[in-house]
Amino acid sequence: MPIPDEKIEEVRAAADLVDVAGDYVQLKRSGSRFMALCPFHNEDTASFSVDPEQNLYYCFGCQAGGDVFKFVQEIEGVGFLEAVRMLAERYGIPLPEEETDPEAANERESILHALRFAARFFYRRLTQTDRGRPALDYLRNRGFTPATIKKFGLGYAPDEWDALLTAAEDEQLDPEILEKAGLVVERNDGSGYYDRYRGRIIFPIFSHIGKVLAFAGRILDPDGDRDQPKYINSPETKVYHKKEVLYGLSQAKRAIRQTDEVLIVEGYTDVISLSQAGVENVVASSGTALTEGQVETLDRYAKRALLLYDADEAGSRATMRGLDRVLEQGMGAYAVELPEGSDPDEFVQEEGGEAFREYVEEHRQDLPSFAYQRARRQGELETPEDRVETQRSIIESVARIPDPNLRREYVTRTSEVVGVPDADLFRILDEERERLEEQERRRREREKRRRERDEQQQTESQSQSGPQAAAPEADGGGRDRPQAPPPEEAPAPESSSQEAVAPTSEAPPAPLPEERVLLRLMLEEGPRMVEHVLGHMALDEFTEGPPRELVQTLVEMYQEGNVRAQAVLEGAYGDQLQSLAASVMIEEHEASENWAEREDIPVPTVNDRPYKSADSAMKFLKLDRVNEAIEHVRAQSYQANQNGETERMQRLQQKMMSLQELKKDIQRGAFLEA
Ligand code: UTP
Ligand code: MN
Repeated sequence: MPIPDEKIEEVRAAADLVDVAGDYVQLKRSGSRFMALCPFHNEDTASFSVDPEQNLYYCFGCQAGGDVFKFVQEIEGVGFLEAVRMLAERYGIPLPEEETDPEAANERESILHALRFAARFFYRRLTQTDRGRPALDYLRNRGFTPATIKKFGLGYAPDEWDALLTAAEDEQLDPEILEKAGLVVERNDGSGYYDRYRGRIIFPIFSHIGKVLAFAGRILDPDGDRDQPKYINSPETKVYHKKEVLYGLSQAKRAIRQTDEVLIVEGYTDVISLSQAGVENVVASSGTALTEGQVETLDRYAKRALLLYDADEAGSRATMRGLDRVLEQGMGAYAVELPEGSDPDEFVQEEGGEAFREYVEEHRQDLPSFAYQRARRQGELETPEDRVETQRSIIESVARIPDPNLRREYVTRTSEVVGVPDADLFRILDEERERLEEQERRRREREKRRRERDEQQQTESQSQSGPQAAAPEADGGGRDRPQAPPPEEAPAPESSSQEAVAPTSEAPPAPLPEERVLLRLMLEEGPRMVEHVLGHMALDEFTEGPPRELVQTLVEMYQEGNVRAQAVLEGAYGDQLQSLAASVMIEEHEASENWAEREDIPVPTVNDRPYKSADSAMKFLKLDRVNEAIEHVRAQSYQANQNGETERMQRLQQKMMSLQELKKDIQRGAFLEA
């Protein structure tokens, strides 16, 4: 369910923009306002101002401005509802349950509660008990201050089988929930549970807004017991998805924003040491290779990423893959190699933050230079064949950059590094782009086929009731898919210009106004509305891209028996669906203004008569689609006529007639009658 307006207003009233913005910039009072360097653009003189009276901000430099929600949206890269949620949490205002399924919401909450409890438990064991003393001494010896231990919430799990279990029991926490939180493990004989972390230093893993999601436990002396893994990591749980989380992000995000730059290191201790030394814009990808999801998250905060992995072969391979990922996301990508045998933790503990910073400035390498040196080290520049192979593999990486201008710059840079004329490299680039596009095209086709298969299965298993995602509508003319003219007459979009297929450089297609109404109605009204709409519409009548994906998602949820708008709004189905859902949900006007003037179709207000409103919107959508098809056939007829293709002309005329028929049926509302 959407957050009620009164709640949103309550949050707005509680959230003090001076306080919120103060987390990101240094505000200085100036008359009745506060001024700071703008966090949204680069500047030397302060032109970002906050008006505490009105609780609004405005930058005279870049014209960014808005209320406290807008500020959080922009600075955190989150949607409206997420911003409301973050602020509500910060100011302790309870919001209605996040999920429409109270059981799932409850379980999530209970798991988070158990994790919070455990974090406090471990922290107290470390800082306030005798048994935690050796662990505390160990951390102190490594140079970690009490403030740092607190900042990162470090803890100690006593070397017992049930220390946490017992403490949790005293608090009436359900062991089953502890198990779901990854804190305890079920005994083999099913007779109960035991603590997962025993005799280990605990590193809590926080979400970007600071919720405890998981833990890693490090053994005190890795050499002491060689049968034990050095780290025990939390399993995947309902709240912890390793691939999306970055260690240290919640502590680092402000510094990342301020510098536009994020350092990515390997180890938890690297993050902590650097942060303590004042190099705060640092995260770790928790023992996994950097994932796409993690890079997407970082893109919300940083413009550039610097990878600082081990100098060994494994580290340098991971660096190459990481650089590719970062470039693919459209961010700047650099690698920094530390001196042989040194890691960031050691370096900074020995030399200090300032020396570390200088080192990084001096040794950052862009991809062409890093890749070329790596090839040299590995003896991959010895023969002409090897050299060409190396050039190609660098251009392969460059080809992934979504922005064509940036790609060009990188080719020029590669040409400098490898000493080959750039014209030759551009030729390789063209080949690589074609290959990537071909790959992308095949991927999309596979995806499409998979969906069609799924849809078919759904219609087969659902032929009695429910929405029929891919079924022809009941208007009888439905077979004449307005959106998909037969292949021999369709222009071949795949063979068109190269840029057109670039996966990331295109803005997603915008939904039509009537589609927005339908999406909103389905999100708001839930299963019955999904059933109503999809009972009359085919999936491919919705605009391809996010709009259609959102409908598909709603259908899938419907089939699972649970339409959860909130999950979409929270981003559980990706950024694109999230912002689309939020934008249709917070839409002010209910229908396109020219609706009433268009056909003779009533435009009821969404809130009064949702079903009537849906019927009108469906009618508009069908008419838009059929009109598109008519336009298309008209253009083709014109061409056929010019070329004197009589047979084709006839076929097209027939088609035009059946489309006109279909249009009349739609106007009559025949599709609603079946
Ligand atoms: P390191 O062995 O470098 O650990 O592994 P570290 O965190 O720097 O610890 P210190 O400095 O030796 O005390 C780097 C990262 O690899 C993952 C962890 O995320 C660790 O931080 N790792 C390592 C594991 O997940 N499991 C292991 O057994 C070892
Ligand atoms: Mn280390």
